[in-house]
Amino acid sequence: MENQFLGNQHFNISNQVVSATCPSNIALIKYWGKYANQIPANPSISYTLNHCNTQTSMEFLANEPFSVQTFLAGNEELKFAEKIEKYFKNIEQYLPWILKGKYVIKTENTFPHSSGIASSASGFGAIASCLMSLDEIFSTDNHQPSVINQKASFLARLGSGSACRSLYNGLVVWGKTDEVEGSSDLYAVKYPDEEIHPIFKNFNDWVLLIHEGEKSVSSTVGHGLMNTNPYAERRFQEARDNFVPLKEILKTGNLEKFIKLVEHEALTLHAMMMMSEPAFILMKTGTLEVINKLWSFRKETGHPLFFTLDAGANVHLLFPENESSDAIKNFIETELLQHTQKGGVVKDVMKF
Ligand code: DP6
Repeated sequence: MENQFLGNQHFNISNQVVSATCPSNIALIKYWGKYANQIPANPSISYTLNHCNTQTSMEFLANEPFSVQTFLAGNEELKFAEKIEKYFKNIEQYLPWILKGKYVIKTENTFPHSSGIASSASGFGAIASCLMSLDEIFSTDNHQPSVINQKASFLARLGSGSACRSLYNGLVVWGKTDEVEGSSDLYAVKYPDEEIHPIFKNFNDWVLLIHEGEKSVSSTVGHGLMNTNPYAERRFQEARDNFVPLKEILKTGNLEKFIKLVEHEALTLHAMMMMSEPAFILMKTGTLEVINKLWSFRKETGHPLFFTLDAGANVHLLFPENESSDAIKNFIETELLQHTQKGGVVKDVMKF
């Protein structure tokens, strides 16, 4: 199956500088648990964000000994360079020229570095896009942009699973499901725009930075703990099953059912962490305070403010941009912001 992405052995390399910008994404049905070669244990779907992104420039010095140097916001990052070197060695069969030069990679994120917003999705998405630009320059045959993007998604997945969903705008699906035509475990596909009710196309995601800094357990370790989690199979099945109601919800614009499904997914992700061996908890006091206040607010006002969580303490506050959004924004500013560590909030919207 992967054979379709094998690289052409005929290429002409030269010194180049390419660049790419790639957005971050937030999952609604979560990817948590994977098999060998970055094959997800269940399908996932995410919203691509508009403001949170990574800008990367990649300089390739042809015919120099293979090495990778990386800079994040101007500072050299040795650990990241090591990771990228390993990644490049791992994908050589798909880009046969990849080890034939030296790289200087410079990246900048639009969101604060220590914010706890996952940079691996936008980071690997941008690197994969840069690699595909180089591949187009070095290749003797040219490809369709859609084929290039699909391979970029395939390569991004091998760097970080969720990154493969960042190569498309709108709602994006990764992992084989009968509910989405063309879906695959190897790369992400765009969820058809025409199957999405307009209410879901003008959506806010305000990220409350509850805790800034390193997480106590990385996503990669967390995925690994699903291998021995006695509830894992049940969870994978539930995620697969959730695509059936979600498809209907997206089509009809049923916000109430959407809220229930999305919050359940977020809480299940964290429940899995708590039921791992060893157990771990990434939510902080502020995370729970925000969730409880938000629930009270929704009950009292009926305004459609809800949340999702990624593998960290931060809360993604989701709400459509409509007649109730002013009241929601005001509530967030006056009642929820105080639970962040330093008053940090990233006000993003979904990118369509
Ligand atoms: C909770 O994609 O960061 O955000 O494949 O090991 O790099 P690796 O993991 P990563 O996991 C993301 C997990 C999640 C859910 C999601 O984005 O679907």
